[in-house]
Amino acid sequence: MAGNLSPIDTAKFVAAKRAVDFVEDKMRVGLGTGSTAAWMVRTLGERVREEGLSIMGVPTSSRTAELASQVGITVVSLDEARWLDLTIDGTDEFDGDLNLIKGGGGAHLQEKIVATASDTMVVIADPSKQVEHLGAFPLPVEVIPFGWQTTKALLEEAIDATDVLGTSGTLRMNGDAPFVTDEGNHIIDLHLQRIGDARKLSLVLNQIPGIVENGLFIDICDRVVIGHPDGRVEVIDINEGTQEETRIDFADDDNIFLDL
Ligand code: 5RP
Repeated sequence: MAGNLSPIDTAKFVAAKRAVDFVEDKMRVGLGTGSTAAWMVRTLGERVREEGLSIMGVPTSSRTAELASQVGITVVSLDEARWLDLTIDGTDEFDGDLNLIKGGGGAHLQEKIVATASDTMVVIADPSKQVEHLGAFPLPVEVIPFGWQTTKALLEEAIDATDVLGTSGTLRMNGDAPFVTDEGNHIIDLHLQRIGDARKLSLVLNQIPGIVENGLFIDICDRVVIGHPDGRVEVIDINEGTQEETRIDFADDDNIFLDL
């Protein structure tokens, strides 16, 4: 199976392939960011080219916008689309309630706006993203550059009173310079280790001036599609309370691999 692909890429690819089955003609679709979402964009592009699927894609980052255009998806802004039928995105962690930590790729602000403006959010993941408790992955918090060190001190003090194991934050770097998001902001990654009350933490964080948005997605995700390296795919639907398993078969010479 997938001769050229590593086990992890196979898992991401089969999750993406299953998730794009949810896309129907004429839909307005939010396009996530990250390596798993990139598989989804390529796979969706393949459906557009081969089936003549007519959709509008709203990207959640400049990277995704570029890839979507390259693979033939019509790209529009959220303001043009206004409301979306479906968003498909990756995640850094998801728990049993399908609450998420996102922002490992630094795009959680646009991702949260787009997912919230969608009837349905489908998350695609490999099995390593499934956790009992959120928090092992550092929680990204987008802050405006003005006074970011003061904002960091305020937020470390504020989270001390929430149910977390760690309270330190680090400014995300891109080489020697601070990482800059598509909105021109910085990211502070919070090393919390374990989050006891994600809902409360999210509210506390977003009260602090200077914080634009945190990477907790609470009650936003409807479905998680988990791909496995052997081609199995699980779909968990939190609203329906269902879990199904299928298998994706694909040829080694699938068109999707041509641009790799
Ligand atoms: C970007 C994100 C990504 O969805 C998340 O980081 C997962 O990325 P990957 O699929 O590369 O593991 O939230 O802001």
